[in-house]
Amino acid sequence: MEPDLDFPAGRLVRGRDPAKAKELTAALGDATVGTAGDATVGTAGAAPAGDIVVLAVPYANAAAVVSEYENALQGKVIIDITSPVSSDFQGFVTPDGSSGAQEIAKAAPAGAHVVKAFNTLFSHVLAVGPAEGRPLDVFIAGDDAQAKARVSAFIESLGLRPMDTGQLAIARALESVGLLQFGLVAHSVKHTNFSLGVSILS
Ligand SMILES: NC(=O)c1ccc[n+]([C@@H]2O[C@H](COP(=O)([O-])OP(=O)(O)OC[C@H]3O[C@@H](n4cnc5c(N)ncnc54)[C@H](OP(=O)(O)O)[C@@H]3O)[C@@H](O)[C@H]2O)c1
Repeated sequence: MEPDLDFPAGRLVRGRDPAKAKELTAALGDATVGTAGDATVGTAGAAPAGDIVVLAVPYANAAAVVSEYENALQGKVIIDITSPVSSDFQGFVTPDGSSGAQEIAKAAPAGAHVVKAFNTLFSHVLAVGPAEGRPLDVFIAGDDAQAKARVSAFIESLGLRPMDTGQLAIARALESVGLLQFGLVAHSVKHTNFSLGVSILS
């Protein structure tokens, strides 16, 4: 993944290295998921044009990147996909009682809405799309109902199933699911070609 993607003004891929952004844009042209094929390269550092900004940087740099764009993110929906886990995959680098998403929200300007999403899907699983004929589940959490509706519509446009899990405080639970996945990789599944989702029985 690259630093950020803006939607829906086409798909604007933006990175601090324009060559890498161009490379990802070309790769999206071949993407199998949804309508990702209409991507174009944006200018690093310029104000994001779209309504939705996907923050696809490591957690360690995420709040700083949000602060860097500052008021250019006013009114935007910021999708936080980060995994704020410690290097030994045993816990979190965030303060007790908080989550990566909530810490990122503190760096965002008033009027921007952070929605946690996509952190529970490995990128190559997401790239392949539906598994066994069923759309992949994308768990989301956020405080603003309209922002979550926009993210849900975006997720559906990619052929995925949005699963609202509640307020932004629930992001901690979603980040724990990320930790759970790392535990599965290390101890039982032994690879990353899997996804976690909801089976509704009745
Ligand atoms: N990979 C997955 O399967 C997966 C799954 C779920 C969630 N995530 C989350 O998605 C995020 C990205 O993951 P990744 O695997 O794509 O990581 P990655 O391969 O390490 O890529 C990180 C990207 O962030 C950019 N970046 C880092 N610091 C930056 C800064 N200060 N300003 C601008 N750009 C910056 C890097 O740009 P340069 O190329 O210029 O260094 C690079 O393009 C992480 O938070 C990760 O936890 C990943």
